[in-house]
Amino acid sequence: MTRVQLKANDPAQEKLDLLAVLAFEGDKPEAAIDELTGGKAARAVRLGDFKGKARQTALFYGEDGKVARVLLVGLGPRKGATVERVRRAAGAAAGEARRLEVRRLGLALPATLPAGLHQAEVAAAAAEAAVLADYAYDRFKGQAGGEPKKPRPELAVEVFAGKDAQAAVDRAVAVAQGANLARDLANGPANHMTPTLLASAAREAGRTHGFKVKVLDPDEMKRLGMGALLAVAQGSHEPARFIHMEHAPKGKAKPKGGTVVVVGKGITFDTGGISIKPADKMWEMKFDKAGGCAVVGLMAALASAGLPARVIGLVPATENMPGGAAVKPGDVVRALNGKSIEILNTDAEGRLILADALAYAARFKPDVVIDMATLTGAVLVALGDVRAAVLSTDDALADALRAAGDATGELLWPLPMDDAYGEHVKGEVADVKNLGKGREAGTIAGAWFLRHFVPEGAAWAHLDIAGTAWASGDPGKGYLGKGASGFGVRLLFEYLRARCEG
Ligand code: BES
Ligand code: MN
Ligand code: ZN
Repeated sequence: MTRVQLKANDPAQEKLDLLAVLAFEGDKPEAAIDELTGGKAARAVRLGDFKGKARQTALFYGEDGKVARVLLVGLGPRKGATVERVRRAAGAAAGEARRLEVRRLGLALPATLPAGLHQAEVAAAAAEAAVLADYAYDRFKGQAGGEPKKPRPELAVEVFAGKDAQAAVDRAVAVAQGANLARDLANGPANHMTPTLLASAAREAGRTHGFKVKVLDPDEMKRLGMGALLAVAQGSHEPARFIHMEHAPKGKAKPKGGTVVVVGKGITFDTGGISIKPADKMWEMKFDKAGGCAVVGLMAALASAGLPARVIGLVPATENMPGGAAVKPGDVVRALNGKSIEILNTDAEGRLILADALAYAARFKPDVVIDMATLTGAVLVALGDVRAAVLSTDDALADALRAAGDATGELLWPLPMDDAYGEHVKGEVADVKNLGKGREAGTIAGAWFLRHFVPEGAAWAHLDIAGTAWASGDPGKGYLGKGASGFGVRLLFEYLRARCEG
């Protein structure tokens, strides 16, 4: 794990392996920092070799016993500067620290900030990105002969800013660590992260961070009437798990913001079932639990930051396998809220397990229900890996989520929920069917299906994160790299923060 400390000292006086200096276009390095490089840093700026363009870097060497290396990192122009550019720069610095295999990284922020940016938020963004960029899923590497491998040396990050940034930095680190937990769970290969193991991991996170966890097994699901979740699970030898988590502020009967339920799709592997997927890239379906993992990471972040909000996290977890007992296209099942579902494609399984989880949410009389799911390939066609889709029956909720997305860099874009799209999932022989009109509006059809199971009276939003939950191409995505991104943890934390504090 990455260690982060806030320091008000002069970074030039610290014994650091690498001091990253974040600089806007046209900024000259401060005298004390330039001195560490024997004047080379200022020279690089004068010669125009380092212009401060976004993500541009230049490395210089210092002298023994002091700062060993200085890395100038560009933030781009002052005009239009954003915290996201700070994240990218700090992420580049942490990436360089990793390549150089150094232990102590300093992050020096610009001495003056453009209007609209504040020191505390810039310090927090830098800390957050450093923690995210230092994450690596390497637990299976280099274990020849079963020898436990030497753990990677821990990176100690020192962020140089005033003490008034302490609360923001602490919170940002807690949230980034929650995101890293979500990534660690989501990166787990399906044989190492079964529904049972995911539930154990949630229990352990609950113990470590201080939130409640209850796990339902298939017998209890059956007793309750979770026919849709059980239908997906019946093709697998791995038993399903339904993970129920709770975070509540200490001592408050009625927390501001009421009760928010967050639901995450926890398909630990999606073969498609009897409607089986092609072999090409099927391995990526180990990431189909990313929404559920984000809910676990969010709960950890809420508890460790002590956010004064009441949040219930629900994760229906199962494999989607084509075993002999598997559900078949055309089968009709009944969900927890009593609605009958015609399963026309067993590969549209996410909406089935979410149907029971959304219906289960009714028992908490929630004010808001938000679900996150790698639900449709269609959202990749629409928005690629840049933005997730938000579909909601409540404009204020969608706007608040979008604002949280803009603040965190976990970007959203709305898709419509006109009644006409609802026709796509009207059932022939049952109340609803799990398949829309083929290639038409697949993401919206998925959302419309879910809508049938949302508790009455709750404001609801669905986030389709199939495009943003992981990166598989080289070199990955900015400060997040390859693999699971933890998408949703930082976004929903910020939404909840604004809701209970804003
Ligand atoms: N987990 C997939 C969606 C997915 C596909 C996520 C590709 C990321 C990348 C989901 O369960 C699924 O298979 N959806 C189907 C729905 C269809 C059968 C209505 C899809 O998108 O093809
Ligand atoms: Mn599927
Ligand atoms: Zn799926």
